[in-house]
Amino acid sequence: MNPELNVLVVCGGISSERAISLRSGRAVLEALREYGYHNARLFDLREDNMGEILSAHPDAVFLTLHGKGGEDGRIQGFLDLAGIPYTGSGVESSAVCMNKILTKQVLLSMGLPTARFTIIRKERMVKEGVATIARELIDSIGLPMVLKAPCEGSSIGVSIVKEERELSRAVVDIFSYDDRLLAEEFLSGTEITLPILGNEELMVLPDIEITSEREFYDYTAKYTQGMCHHIIPARISAENRERARTIGREAYLALRCRGLARIDFIVDERRGPMVIEINTLPGMTEMSLFPDSARAMGISFPELCHHILSLCME
Ligand SMILES: Nc1ncnc2c1ncn2[C@@H]1O[C@H](COP(=O)(O)OP(=O)(O)O)[C@@H](O)[C@H]1O
Ligand SMILES: [Mg+2]
Repeated sequence: MNPELNVLVVCGGISSERAISLRSGRAVLEALREYGYHNARLFDLREDNMGEILSAHPDAVFLTLHGKGGEDGRIQGFLDLAGIPYTGSGVESSAVCMNKILTKQVLLSMGLPTARFTIIRKERMVKEGVATIARELIDSIGLPMVLKAPCEGSSIGVSIVKEERELSRAVVDIFSYDDRLLAEEFLSGTEITLPILGNEELMVLPDIEITSEREFYDYTAKYTQGMCHHIIPARISAENRERARTIGREAYLALRCRGLARIDFIVDERRGPMVIEINTLPGMTEMSLFPDSARAMGISFPELCHHILSLCME
């Protein structure tokens, strides 16, 4: 490690997850300083100051952005063109993982398990009416079903529909985020997440079971103290653990993730672990899932941040 390294922790951004990203950024900055990177600095990315990243001449950028613009390959492309190393996945992996539809299509093509789904384009709703779309979703997916805006995060634009009478409104609501809607079968089972570190050689960290005081792991559950609980290791069978770890590795490699990623699953009672999504820039506050899992295997938060930084310099 070179303590003189000029590390810029880039956080904030313009997505709906800006507030969370600022929290991650501050936590990572503190951790890097604690580890010994005394030149590490924070950079609050806004709409108009991207060029200032270049004038700061960083040796490396530690990304703690979430959502649009930060987790979807755009800032990664900018840094690639500028020749600045950055933590985490590259352009293509970030772009595909940000889009839950594309992610599922890659998973399916690799034979990896994910919830059954349908995609609806907004123009069809405009032409054929929301009642027709609702009917089709009931027939193809059934109730309960999960509707998602494909490119959001932090459970924004995710709704679980249980009753037919709620469906039309939920459909219209999703189209306020995106012109495509992802409808998935509802999986009941244990929700777990699996953090993975590495480039070619992977280190799979302990799985975490997530329980929520809310109806599901929604925005409030994610970011309010006491509204969700992390159980390490998850209360799943040894067989399901092994399967999740194998699926996790395969998904990480298939989607060409680098540095780190967190793979979310629901362990279905009958079918075992089903992938929900892949987070290429997972939350990095001290309370977040990734650092919690690392801690459970004896890796402190400063050590984790140092490790992630080292992986981007490889
Ligand atoms: N198919 C599903 N069945 C049951 N619950 C789901 C399903 N998909 C998502 N969820 C619930 O919704 C939450 C958010 O969904 P997710 O796809 O992970 O979106 P986000 O990117 O916003 O985290 C999950 O953590 C889980 O609790
Ligand atoms: Mg998620």
